[in-house]
Amino acid sequence: MNLKPETLQRIDEVITHYPTKRSATLPLLHLIQEDLGYIPHEAHEWIAAKLEIEPINVYDVVTFYPMFRQKPIGRRHIKVCRTLSCALMGGYKTCAEFEKQFNTHVGEISPDGEVTVEFVECLASCGTAPVVLIDDDLHEKVDVAKAQQLSNEIKQAAAKRS
Ligand code: FES
Repeated sequence: MNLKPETLQRIDEVITHYPTKRSATLPLLHLIQEDLGYIPHEAHEWIAAKLEIEPINVYDVVTFYPMFRQKPIGRRHIKVCRTLSCALMGGYKTCAEFEKQFNTHVGEISPDGEVTVEFVECLASCGTAPVVLIDDDLHEKVDVAKAQQLSNEIKQAAAKRS
């Protein structure tokens, strides 16, 4: 598994925080997802060997918690809130605009590999609905026009990179 050296260092360190190694399963999964964007299948065996447990124990945790992704995502992760306030204020239209802008569908990687658009539950900013999280940045009152503007910014950043 191709983890960054700093992730490997954090993994070794975090294991020392727990009285039994197996208790570090969740933190290790978070660190791996933070590094790779998802939990590849090979991570089950890798973590199991590290924590001296069975791969099935890791698999059970990965499949129990919905926050763990089992598929890769695009370079940028667009999360659109679909809980009540955001839904009422147009969150579904916002999401549809991102899908249109990147020629993709919720949960899939866009054809250019640039984004994955997903619905998420309440992002704790209901007063400024509809709310969108792009990577670690929260964007408020994201109507269709603002979704277009944010999409353009993502496209421009991608163009600069290439
Ligand atoms: S309902 Fe969307 S942030 Fe709370």
